[in-house]
Amino acid sequence: MKGVVLHGGKGTRLRPLTHTGPKQLIKVGGKPISQWGIENLVKHGVTDIAIVLGENNPEKVIDYYGDGTEFSANFTYIYQGEARGLAEAIYRCKDFVGNDRFIVHLGDNIVQHGLELLVNTKDEAAVLLAKVTDPSRYGVAEVNRDRIVRLVEKPKEFVSDLALVGVYSFSSTIFDIIEGLKPSRRGELEITEAIQKVIESGDTVGFAVVDGWWKDTGTPDDMLSANMRILDFSTDYKIHGSVENANIEGRVYLGRNSKIVGSTVRGPAYIGEDTLVENSFVGSYMSIGNGCRISDTEISNSLVFDNSKIRDCKLTDSIIGYNCNIEKNRKKPEGSRLITGEGSSVSI
Ligand code: G1P
Repeated sequence: MKGVVLHGGKGTRLRPLTHTGPKQLIKVGGKPISQWGIENLVKHGVTDIAIVLGENNPEKVIDYYGDGTEFSANFTYIYQGEARGLAEAIYRCKDFVGNDRFIVHLGDNIVQHGLELLVNTKDEAAVLLAKVTDPSRYGVAEVNRDRIVRLVEKPKEFVSDLALVGVYSFSSTIFDIIEGLKPSRRGELEITEAIQKVIESGDTVGFAVVDGWWKDTGTPDDMLSANMRILDFSTDYKIHGSVENANIEGRVYLGRNSKIVGSTVRGPAYIGEDTLVENSFVGSYMSIGNGCRISDTEISNSLVFDNSKIRDCKLTDSIIGYNCNIEKNRKKPEGSRLITGEGSSVSI
């Protein structure tokens, strides 16, 4: 069984965070979103993995993942270039897959359960489904008496509230089917349509409805909710750094060389390495990266990427990118001073 992790896409809805790197590399709970998926594949015995790279800073993905040794896996990099759809990205892995079965994991999806079915299935194709309240955002499956009878990508009218999770299992026959696909309304080769053709050819598409949680992290709100889920289920809570005159409430991870001084940190919370939290209230549901400095601040339910500084602020539900500097404006005239990149969204 091989693995294919799709790491392309423009990440438009996550701008400006994605101006300098792909969305799948955004860290939540100390790891890139795609690493949670890759570790899940490795845990299920899928270690020979192709990572399909898009146009957005592909070298950053290679820099981070390397040859896979550090992740107990063996990585092969395949360039997709311009995004022309999931099926097209998958087709580029034809030689890598050969005659094996394989699992496709979208790098921006995280699932808690369901991989067992995808690893063990004998069906030509198998998918995971999850109930959603906004089915028009996804591919959906119409299920009739324990069988998937129809799949529709981004339905305009209601078909089903069971969305296709971005993790699939295929036999190598899917490549022949992809060869016959035509671009969809959005100009892409849709994997949903390829699976629909598996059904039309009379084969069964195996499925399971995911009973834990699933997250597709296309928007800032999705990222924050993935952060909540990950911090809730993570078990790796240890204090490696130092704590002085501070309250640690609940489950908190504190990385090496980090310091919490004169502060309260309410878990669940993840704080990386070389970070200082001083005279602040942090948490709950915080992921703070490496090399950060949080001073005289109250912050909750937020992500702070590496090397950012926050001073004398009250923040919630925020995502602060790399190397940012945020502080209260002490100059007159009073008011917030903003220098925002293209696609930023701020509420003050
Ligand atoms: C893709 C698939 C869709 C699936 C979704 C899961 O959508 O086309 O069928 O439900 O991933 O994340 P996209 O992210 O391209 O909008």
